[in-house]
Amino acid sequence: MKSSFNLEGKTGLITGGGQGIGQAVAKAWAQAGADVAILDANGDSAASTALELESVGVRSLAIAVDVTDNSAVHDAVQRVDSELGELDIAFNNAGIARGEVPSVDMPADWWRSVIDVNLSGVFYSAQAEARVMLPRGRGAILNMASMSGIIANKGLLQPNYNASKAGVAHLTRSLAVEWAPQGVRVNSLSPGYILTPLTERDEVADKRAEWISGIPMGRMGTVDDLTGPATFAVSDASAYMNGHDLVVDGGFVCW
Ligand SMILES: NC(=O)c1ccc[n+]([C@@H]2O[C@H](COP(=O)([O-])OP(=O)(O)OC[C@H]3O[C@@H](n4cnc5c(N)ncnc54)[C@H](O)[C@@H]3O)[C@@H](O)[C@H]2O)c1
Repeated sequence: MKSSFNLEGKTGLITGGGQGIGQAVAKAWAQAGADVAILDANGDSAASTALELESVGVRSLAIAVDVTDNSAVHDAVQRVDSELGELDIAFNNAGIARGEVPSVDMPADWWRSVIDVNLSGVFYSAQAEARVMLPRGRGAILNMASMSGIIANKGLLQPNYNASKAGVAHLTRSLAVEWAPQGVRVNSLSPGYILTPLTERDEVADKRAEWISGIPMGRMGTVDDLTGPATFAVSDASAYMNGHDLVVDGGFVCW
């Protein structure tokens, strides 16, 4: 009997899947048997990730797309649905951070760009996915939030990022209740501190030791720590989970 965690026969897409968390989850979904499209602003990393997925024996498709471009996102999702297969699962993961200045000095375009990618980009992606999923009465969407939507990170000046992630968690609940009657589930994932290019950037280099001291498990997470939860959240194993924010942070928000 097939495990309910298995994704064989499903078609998925991941935004921001060219590197970091999105790429690791793409590989995990492929290993679980899904065909997975990679949508990323960086077309080269999308293409190389798609090649890696194909080496696992599944089908893939790379599309260069900026999630802040509503019509381009809709076109990309339509392409996945017609070229790779009817869309069953999606991970709206693309995100950026831009901060580390006092809020009173934050330029308006820093505020706008982070909200545009992290919150509006998730909405445009979910909207496009729902347009193909709702008429078929099936689908599971996972949106990338963050524990920064629950707590304000000590020592990090990033109100734009924190607000965008709190917005994603509540956007998720709103879409979950709206689309549940038509068979589409929507959940969010809230990682803690995970080692990726985002947290390894110079801007936050001196912060990492302090972050670790606040994590009950005593270490930052790895992208592999998120692959199980992100697979579970779109698999049939989570069939009754809807509108949930899945926190995966080594216990950080408990303190
Ligand atoms: N790393 C962490 O500690 C951490 C913790 C919590 C949440 N997150 C969230 O996880 C997600 C992925 O983060 P990561 O650490 O893997 O980052 P990353 O920078 O390694 O990867 C982000 C990917 O998104 C793509 N991207 C960026 N802007 C885009 C846009 N406008 N359109 C399409 N693609 C775009 C990039 O090209 C890149 O491939 C983000 O939403 C981030 O906020 C990360």
